[in-house]
Amino acid sequence: MQLSPSETQTLVQRTAREFAERVVRPLAADIDAKAKIPDAVVRGLGELGLLAVNVSPDVGGAGAGAVAYALAVQEIARACASSAVTMSVTNMVGEAITHFGTPAQARHYVSDLARGDAGLGCFALSEAEAGSDPGAMTTTARRDGSHGGEWVLDGAKQWISGGSAARVFIVWARTRPIEAASKGISCFLVDGNAAGLRVGRPEDKMGIRGSSTVPLEFSGCRVPASAMLGSENEGFKIAMMALDGGRIGISSQAIGIARAALDESVRYAKDRRTFGAPIAEHQAIQWKLADMQTRIEAAHLLSMRAAWMKETGHAFSREAAIAKLFASESAIAVCNDAVQIHGGYGYTRDFAAERHLRDARVTTIYEGTSEIQRLVIARSALA
Ligand code: CAA
Repeated sequence: MQLSPSETQTLVQRTAREFAERVVRPLAADIDAKAKIPDAVVRGLGELGLLAVNVSPDVGGAGAGAVAYALAVQEIARACASSAVTMSVTNMVGEAITHFGTPAQARHYVSDLARGDAGLGCFALSEAEAGSDPGAMTTTARRDGSHGGEWVLDGAKQWISGGSAARVFIVWARTRPIEAASKGISCFLVDGNAAGLRVGRPEDKMGIRGSSTVPLEFSGCRVPASAMLGSENEGFKIAMMALDGGRIGISSQAIGIARAALDESVRYAKDRRTFGAPIAEHQAIQWKLADMQTRIEAAHLLSMRAAWMKETGHAFSREAAIAKLFASESAIAVCNDAVQIHGGYGYTRDFAAERHLRDARVTTIYEGTSEIQRLVIARSALA
């Protein structure tokens, strides 16, 4: 594994950092307070190629690879976790459509997603009672032979990130009875404004408040035969492979949030004085800062390894699960320390440390809980 980034990776990282510092960071508190990401942020991400970093330029992507993508998500997350997850999920959807879709599907959807001016890419897998166990989903897709093989979707999805501003949803639905479990699921591309699709009210969340999280209802929602992504009944594997990549995105998001918490803590510790000295001079604080830095660096290396394995065509499910597990749990520990270093001020909305802790909390939950990552890692150890 190459430890120093290539010229392209450095360029993408610098571009993301510059945009994050100049445009995103100044808006981050407001994005959290108003629970909305301004269109200019999504458009800006699109203009810089950050919504399709690892997607081929043939369909409008930057073609910069999985490592560059992971570095870029970190930079955006360091400024605003809501913007980073928006970026991450749209990249994941664009990659899945390019990888598993037909050239016509990729042309139709991916360049819109890459530009960022037509809406986001959303991943509609989870249901109210099928989150960790998507093989238990009950949303159905029935073929209507009398209408040229159209598919009719019925059911409900839950916890859909970015769903309020979707250009396209990748929707998983049963095409065989429930007994077929993961072997009876197919995958469809559904436009955000499709008839028969109702996008529900965004959840009132603890963190990543700028990124909407919505329920979806499908009621006789018709899509053409050409809307199927990949092969019939092979949808579960598409979900798993897309999630492997998505987990690199969430580990990068967690690292970015943790870096922001460390930045704030260092600044505060140099400024705030107790017992006649800046608290940065007290060993109790220095040890916390050292532990925070160490966790971040270890998470970064794990995340880079997973991204490098993906980029170089190796199997990377286990490495992505390890990176996501460690980075997300580390982010919560780091952000918790950041609040502690800030003392009472860290518990107020006047300091960003409080937002970082709220934003970090979801990273052990979505795109596979820590328990699911442990299951994936343990299965691989026992295989
Ligand atoms: N890549 C390719 N294929 C895979 C795979 C992978 N990573 N993981 C499993 N498969 C294949 C298996 O090989 C198997 O294939 P065969 O039927 O041909 O043998 C098939 O898929 C079924 O596999 P399992 O028997 O292992 O399936 P399982 O039901 O036991 O589940 C699991 C495995 C890892 C627990 C999986 O269900 C899982 O990852 N659950 C978590 C789901 C998740 O992450 N949800 C998050 C929601 S999305 C989200 O959060 C996005 C967002 O909004 C931000």
